[in-house]
Amino acid sequence: MSIQEVATEPFDDQKPGTSGLRKKTRVFMQERYLENFVQSTFNAIGGGSGKTFVVSGDGRFLNDTAIQTILKMALANGASKVIVGKGGLLSTPAVSHLIRLNKTDGGFVLSASHNPGGIDEDFGIKFNTSNGGPAPEALTEKIFQNTKSISSYNTSDVADINLEIAGTTKLEGMAVEIIDPVANYMELMRTLFDFDAIRNLFSSGFSMRFDAMHAITGPYAKAILEGELGAAEGTVVNGIPSPDFGGGHPDPNPIWAKDLMSVMMQDDGPDFGAASDGDGDRNMIVGRQAYVTPSDSLAVLAANAHLAPGYAKGIAGIARSMPTSGAADLVARKLGIEIFETPTGWKFFGNLLDAGKVSICGEESAGTGSDHVREKDGLWAVLLWLNILAVRKMSVADLMKDHWATYGRNYYSRHDFEAVPTENADQLMQNLRDKQESLPGTKIGSTTVEFADDFSYQDPIDNSVSAHQGIRIGFAGGGRAVFRLSGTGTEGATLRLYLEQYVPASSDMSIETAVALKEVQAAAHEVSNLAALLGRSEPDVVT
Ligand code: G1P
Ligand code: ZN
Repeated sequence: MSIQEVATEPFDDQKPGTSGLRKKTRVFMQERYLENFVQSTFNAIGGGSGKTFVVSGDGRFLNDTAIQTILKMALANGASKVIVGKGGLLSTPAVSHLIRLNKTDGGFVLSASHNPGGIDEDFGIKFNTSNGGPAPEALTEKIFQNTKSISSYNTSDVADINLEIAGTTKLEGMAVEIIDPVANYMELMRTLFDFDAIRNLFSSGFSMRFDAMHAITGPYAKAILEGELGAAEGTVVNGIPSPDFGGGHPDPNPIWAKDLMSVMMQDDGPDFGAASDGDGDRNMIVGRQAYVTPSDSLAVLAANAHLAPGYAKGIAGIARSMPTSGAADLVARKLGIEIFETPTGWKFFGNLLDAGKVSICGEESAGTGSDHVREKDGLWAVLLWLNILAVRKMSVADLMKDHWATYGRNYYSRHDFEAVPTENADQLMQNLRDKQESLPGTKIGSTTVEFADDFSYQDPIDNSVSAHQGIRIGFAGGGRAVFRLSGTGTEGATLRLYLEQYVPASSDMSIETAVALKEVQAAAHEVSNLAALLGRSEPDVVT
């Protein structure tokens, strides 16, 4: 075997976004592209010498070749051990857990999350640090700077490792340990949830459908729900990970999980439905004829977490991303605990979790999680829901009614305008930024602006400031609109418009979401001049 230092030239487009470097698969297939990024990462963490890492992905096209590339580079950079899930597969929360469990120096996650996979779709890579969470901004910035000046990378000419056989192989000085992707994760779940109570729930005839969307959670859900908790065989559908996710978008929302939605909306549908995304960190929750918005799900989980053994002592605090609805804030107030509003992206929860300030976190984009790992965790949310339903013995629909009767309801929807020309999207944001200070007191349509700002966050632990995180506009009567540009898109710009309307507990809760949001939607379009700037007023995706 020989170690080689290969001369290379920088690419100019390797700036990690909200969740790592995400590009079209063919971009990643260019010679030196992945190598440059990986070497830039090793350089940013002070080299790989003597270090241990976890490396795996969600099984999308390029997953296995990328893992072989990284293994060879880890060896050439002096790493002492790399842990890989069998078949190169690990969910993102499982990677986070393994980094923590084995006290490794970090890990590489190969995924583009909920984006489609395949040679003409998306691929991605993200580095997580030793706390198990995504690299903080200071580190991703360092990686990015390195990508702009890199002149060589280290690799070795060892043969590919067979990723299908569990066990440890020695590659010169480096051990490669291939492990069962599910086992450690299942043990962690067993410490948090009352598996007996959930088993009793299933044996009482409770029915469930889990749509793994041809992605990574298939094997996890099959082993845990069907294998361990006694859910009927066939509960897990689309349970075999495929490199192109069966040609679909592995994005658990009513649009992309519409088969699940239509089954759940039937009179005789299952009691409980759930789905997870490409890499297993997102979740969708739906009861029979009762879709639960991710913002509401966060609030319900926080309000009821104490019913699960892992949270029996109560939760320390809650964090939500800024565009997520205020439903969780109401729960925090009632529990007398702190609520933190952070910028979009899971990495902003890391410090709060590490410091023990919060136990439960969530984002409107179908991410919920807790301090058990440093990533959002789709199956964790599903299991916590099951634990809560097992204890409260009521349907999802009744649980939601009960929640709203206690706290009031935050009607909520996100409107995405995709593949917008970047200049137009930037213009829209700039206009709002320019006029935000003068907005309060202005009458817009049938409502009045109460506050407006360009969200800026100071991390309470390391004091770092993240500015320009989105325009927030609060309207009289409990309405809120948020505008921000996506940091994960791979084509043009995606404008996200988040709409929220709070109604107090005494109100009529049977109105449709679209109706409840009409006024705030009209005001948001007017204040941003959206139709004129984007050339259309209908979003591509409404969730
Ligand atoms: C999106 C979501 C965000 C999530 C991220 C990674 O980012 O909105 O909540 O953390 O994906 O899963 P965005 O495209 O909005 O920047
Ligand atoms: Zn994901």
